[in-house]
Amino acid sequence: MGFFDWAAPWVRRYGDRFTADDAATIAGWLRPAVAEGGLVLDVGGGAGHLARLLAVELEARVTVLDPTADLVAHVPVSERVAAVRGTAEAMPLPDNGFDAIVVTDAFHHFRDQGAAVAEFARVVRDGGQVLVLELDRRPFAMRLIALGERLVGEPATFMTPEELCAFMAAHGIEGECAPLAKASYRFLGRVSKRAE
Ligand SMILES: C[S@@+](CC[C@H](N)C(=O)[O-])C[C@H]1O[C@@H](n2cnc3c(N)ncnc32)[C@H](O)[C@@H]1O
Repeated sequence: MGFFDWAAPWVRRYGDRFTADDAATIAGWLRPAVAEGGLVLDVGGGAGHLARLLAVELEARVTVLDPTADLVAHVPVSERVAAVRGTAEAMPLPDNGFDAIVVTDAFHHFRDQGAAVAEFARVVRDGGQVLVLELDRRPFAMRLIALGERLVGEPATFMTPEELCAFMAAHGIEGECAPLAKASYRFLGRVSKRAE
């Protein structure tokens, strides 16, 4: 049994932290790539709290991809929200099927981040966006959190904003990192397939 199998009830409550204002902010970042009726993928999206809010804000269809059965089962599936069980590293999803990807507080849980970014580039259309909200590994509190996560078997591969930007670029997704509140930051990049 993995960490998120027993932590699923906690992750469900944790998802409630997203407010309509948060969703409006995130939707504003994604809107250049997501027209009304567009398709968004929330990777590691847990029980779909953000997906439900984003679907309303963007008037789009949001699919939650998550490997944890107990979380996927709680996604509020509707006309606008879908749920798929799977990992970021091997998505059971078609090429070029999404206008944008959002990843919140999940990227550091991916055991093969390179494979995950290759999947981002595969499933997002040319010109689509990738938004990752992450935590900077440098503050002392974050080092303690990383230690705690490793003690329960998680990879806890946190990066600095500069490291994440360089990592994304090395895997073909150019973008920018901007600081948010406390230790958190945002990566926002665009998928370009023209050179393929
Ligand atoms: C801390 S929770 C964050 C959930 C949600 N994104 C949020 O912000 O509330 C991390 C999520 O990552 C998922 N996860 C863990 N490993 C994953 C992987 N390899 N691929 C995709 N999701 C993964 C977990 O099941 C869990 O739902």
